Amino acid sequence: MKKFDRVYKHYDKFIEMFKFNKGEEIKEILNLQGEEVVLDIGGGTGRLADYISSDCKIVYILDESEGMLSKVKANGKVVPILGDGLNTDFENNSIDIVLMVDVFHHIENQKGLIQEAYRILKDNGKLLILDLEKKNAKIRMLRVFEFILFGKLYFKTSEEIQELIKDKFKIRNFIDNKYYFIIIGEKNV
Ligand SMILES: C[S@@+](CC[C@H](N)C(=O)[O-])C[C@H]1O[C@@H](n2cnc3c(N)ncnc32)[C@H](O)[C@@H]1O
Repeated sequence: MKKFDRVYKHYDKFIEMFKFNKGEEIKEILNLQGEEVVLDIGGGTGRLADYISSDCKIVYILDESEGMLSKVKANGKVVPILGDGLNTDFENNSIDIVLMVDVFHHIENQKGLIQEAYRILKDNGKLLILDLEKKNAKIRMLRVFEFILFGKLYFKTSEEIQELIKDKFKIRNFIDNKYYFIIIGEKNV
């Protein structure tokens, strides 16, 4: 059983309660043109796919939790995949956009995750990382809550994440929204 299999039934309600639904904002930032192949790593219940699937070719939702994936509203354009984001079955240079939304701090081998995103992204493909600002008061409370539920977490500051990805991705955009941040990187070729 994976960590999120314990909480999947209540996950979406919890996100609404904490007002942590950033679907509209992410959709706007991505400015999709209709043809993109998107991979949402740690995509969970498919919340984001609900916002973006009509504006791109396909959204793969890859997650290690069967429970989370059981909530995905799958259809021809929204495809759930059970698996590990560190070791996917996608071919080299096959994806236009990789998303990691509220996932990074759950991953111990963050370098490995970035390496995998780099491998599967097409040249000039985009990586979007949204994560929580660990020093923010609202997030400090959430961190305690998440620690009780999930155990060890691997929070990084936005600067640390940018440092981690900079060999492989040019930073194209950085949005600081106080209690969370969004980093957009473009694959270096
Ligand atoms: C906080 S949830 C975020 C879900 C979704 N991105 C969202 O914003 O609603 C983190 C998700 O990452 C998944 N996850 C954690 N480690 C993973 C891994 N190594 N491979 C795939 N999914 C993973 C969990 O199962 C969980 O669904």
